[in-house]
Amino acid sequence: MQKVHAAITAVGGYVPEYRLTNAELETMMDTTDEWIQTRTGIKERRILKGEGKGASDIAVEAVKVLLDKRGIDPTEIEMVICATTTPDMQFPATANVICDKVGMTKAWGYDLNAACSGFIFALTVGAQFIETGRHKKVIVVGVDKMSSIMNYEDRTTSIIFGDGGGAVLLEPDTEGYGIIDSILRTDGSGRVFLHQKAGGSVKPATVETVMNKEHYVYQEGQAVFKFAVKNMADVAAEIMERNGLTAENVAWLVPHQANKRIINATAERMQLPADKVMINIERYGNTTNGTLPLCLWEWESRLRKGDNIVLAAFGGGFTWGSTYIRWAYDGA
Ligand code: UT7
Repeated sequence: MQKVHAAITAVGGYVPEYRLTNAELETMMDTTDEWIQTRTGIKERRILKGEGKGASDIAVEAVKVLLDKRGIDPTEIEMVICATTTPDMQFPATANVICDKVGMTKAWGYDLNAACSGFIFALTVGAQFIETGRHKKVIVVGVDKMSSIMNYEDRTTSIIFGDGGGAVLLEPDTEGYGIIDSILRTDGSGRVFLHQKAGGSVKPATVETVMNKEHYVYQEGQAVFKFAVKNMADVAAEIMERNGLTAENVAWLVPHQANKRIINATAERMQLPADKVMINIERYGNTTNGTLPLCLWEWESRLRKGDNIVLAAFGGGFTWGSTYIRWAYDGA
């Protein structure tokens, strides 16, 4: 009998309407459109506006798109894994909130936090439940409302991040399509370079932590950049080698959208031409867990059954990894 793979059978995505442009950032801090574009490739990012709105509100829209496309009822979904670094609340899990808002009343699920690598980590976890035969329909969400942890007085981080997210449906496939391989890594010693100082159990929120602006993303950009360039490229090269993939037979690289220079370095290492690399960082910035599913959503119509697709990510933790997918359907 053919091995069961977890195939992506539908993709949904959503970005909020509000566009925070480089021109607007110029009015908020000491920066320029030229600096941001040259150093990161970003022109604008989306921001979720509105009182009481969180990551789940973005995810809900993405999941609805996906269910609609696949023509299935929310009650058919058995499991939801939500990769996020900006959950609606500390608890309960945002996955629960999404299930409730969409009416996925038969599903169980939970959140997974691996910063910018969260989506590929969650994809690997979700795939296990399909491969073992435990479930037939699993949704994996990657979503973040990064604006909720941005200090818009810090020009070194706030220019990079944006809000958005996407979701994929996993179903069993016995014809050799789906998620074929993954390499996932963590190195906790990297946490010093990229983290949120307060709000966790080590340093719960106090008036002081708020006054000291410790509930925002703290990043030492240059250090993170160096690790990201090396590790994302290494892991993408490793997954190609062990699966007999070449620049010719890879159809697409789906890279985490943190910085266009990191994306270019990864593509170069894989010897891939620019037209095989999904890039939308100029319009959305870095949506953390949202970047990879947002790319798949935007490129879905161009994907063909049998396409070899390599996903690669690097993020806080440090976490990083790469996933090889043999695409299961022709995009409409
Ligand atoms: O997704 C999670 C993983 N995160 C990443 O992968 C991010 C990795 N890091 C990066 O993408 C880059 O390090 C940044 C985009 C964050 C920063 O770019 P950089 O080329 O590493 O700049 P830098 O930090 O070395 O700063 C160079 C100069 C500094 O000025 P001096 O000291 O040379 O006078 C900064 O103060 O640029 C200055 N600078 C800015 N200038 C204008 C920093 N931010 C800005 C800004 N506008 N927004």
